[in-house]
Amino acid sequence: MSVRLAPSILSADFAHLARDIAAAEAGGADLIHVDVMDGHFVPNITMGPPVVRAVRRVAACPLDVHLMISEPDRYLEAFVDAGASMLSVHVEVLPHLHRTLGAIKALGAQAGAVLNPSTPVSALEEVAGDVDFVLVMSVNPGFGGQRFIPRSLDKIRRVRMLLDRAGNRAPIEVDGGVGLDTARKVVEAGASILVAGHAVFGGNDPAAAVRALREAAES
Ligand code: DX5
Ligand code: ZN
Repeated sequence: MSVRLAPSILSADFAHLARDIAAAEAGGADLIHVDVMDGHFVPNITMGPPVVRAVRRVAACPLDVHLMISEPDRYLEAFVDAGASMLSVHVEVLPHLHRTLGAIKALGAQAGAVLNPSTPVSALEEVAGDVDFVLVMSVNPGFGGQRFIPRSLDKIRRVRMLLDRAGNRAPIEVDGGVGLDTARKVVEAGASILVAGHAVFGGNDPAAAVRALREAAES
């Protein structure tokens, strides 16, 4: 299975996003992961459509935009318009998840459903055939640099089974605490898109960090 790496710019230098994105891409990044937080669904506030639009101008990779906001339906169009190729929404805030996934697809983006660590896999049961990808949170969302929750490995396996039962080959993305020590394990569990913030931008050589992560993930 080919692994896609999605560096999260949450841990990049916000004053030098173009430089940091170029470095991650030089190392072989496949996607750029953008964490949108509203200070309501999660305790942190980050960025909105104007920053996504600016990132779109400088990034060569597709943008994978992760919405950690309470009312995503209000902003889907703004984020796709700003340049999101993949747009993921948290099931915890969406009573009409099926409608929201359809709305994202209708806008021309790939639709992802995100599960918090405490949200059961069964929350996806009725939309298992509708998702373009599933994002399994392996930390509680809100901050970069947190420790990977080990139970996430089993959860990735159970999401894979659910998707397979629905006949859906959609990839599983994993986000939170992914680094050299966990990359191989999440791939073995069934994830094929790996988000990494601190592991890529926490040091002073993002390109080398992406290369090392790929080696760890594919070894
Ligand atoms: C966490 C965000 C993550 C975060 C991951 O709420 O969704 O994308 O940037 O950062 P690391 O890889 O440092 O855990
Ligand atoms: Zn994220």
